[in-house]
Amino acid sequence: MDKLENSQPLRPTHGGVKPAELRALGLKPEDVLDFSASVSPIGPPEGVREALSQVDLAAYPDPQCLLLREAISNHLSRVSSEPVGTEKILVGNGSTEIIHLLARAYLSPSRPRSDNTAFILTPTYGEYEGACRLMGSTISCLDGLDRPGFRWDLELAARSIAQEKPSLIFLCNPNNPTGVFLNHDEVSLLVQAADVTGGLLVLDEAYLSFVEEPWDSLSLLRQGPVILVRSMTKDYGLTALRLGYSVASEEVTQRLGTLQPDWSVNGLSQAAGLAALADTGYLDRARQAVNESKNFLSARLADLGLFVPPSAANFLLVKVGDATGWSDKLIRKGLAVRDCTSFGLPKYIRVGIRPLADCQRLAEAMAGLAD
Ligand SMILES: Cc1ncc(COP(=O)(O)O)c(C=O)c1O
Repeated sequence: MDKLENSQPLRPTHGGVKPAELRALGLKPEDVLDFSASVSPIGPPEGVREALSQVDLAAYPDPQCLLLREAISNHLSRVSSEPVGTEKILVGNGSTEIIHLLARAYLSPSRPRSDNTAFILTPTYGEYEGACRLMGSTISCLDGLDRPGFRWDLELAARSIAQEKPSLIFLCNPNNPTGVFLNHDEVSLLVQAADVTGGLLVLDEAYLSFVEEPWDSLSLLRQGPVILVRSMTKDYGLTALRLGYSVASEEVTQRLGTLQPDWSVNGLSQAAGLAALADTGYLDRARQAVNESKNFLSARLADLGLFVPPSAANFLLVKVGDATGWSDKLIRKGLAVRDCTSFGLPKYIRVGIRPLADCQRLAEAMAGLAD
């Protein structure tokens, strides 16, 4: 088990195209295809723009997001047999806000050291560590980097949780950036460990909508202390608006809601979320588009002799050798990819799945570099 050093920078590295970097290269944002963020490749559902134009910009949004929570509850009842009432749903300004609310609710610099610890299955989304660091927490991580297929030793994870008794345990499923997708029994092992030690398992399902054969994780809520965190930003390509939600017990939901600033989910995001959920066929179409592009890209890159580990999510890891060098060369061609050095994977880039034509352009550019 590794303890993370407190000398690390407080803020994590993220994908996404940064205007300052583009300016330095003489590029404009509209000249760049962004493969560094992984969101739905088919753009927002049709009704979203119309819904946005109807929003009264002079009115405060509903701080409790009532209509949106009702729509999320209905959506969940269509995809799961587990009923989820609105009292178990919290909407956030992106799922990232919910991750920070969790850290504030369950960790604190004023707690005794032994009661201010978090456990993270790494490599993974940097915001977990970032949020816990802001609380001055001791962070342990179980690394999957040197394991076959980047799959963690979950028995070891459960034993470590039993020993360290962390207040929060972070698991991303499917995992960013490795694309590893754990099954019900594997995740249950961690729920049980959290149950015994009094911790809370944070199951980040930001990419679940793109998994070809998902299982119903809502059933975990009956098994033990778990919160599911989901991203409508990613599901519906609402990246500029920021929208996410969590599903947990009423008690956990209330605890987080108390810490959330009023109106943090603005009126445009709420309206967009409602319009997106009204398009009930959208997620199937997005998943199909991901699969088509992903199959093409992984086959084409493998043809180039590049190792592409299997991924259950809407992104691929690609072993290129010198990730920073490849990322620099690709951005100069107007193609932004995620250099995975900050994940501890300096030989890999991560490529978010975009429409097929964009993936063809990327494959051509990478063929040029692989020569
Ligand atoms: C695993 C994971 N969770 C959450 C997020 C943040 O999503 P949101 O836009 O909903 O804040 C990201 C963004 O990259 C992510 O990779």
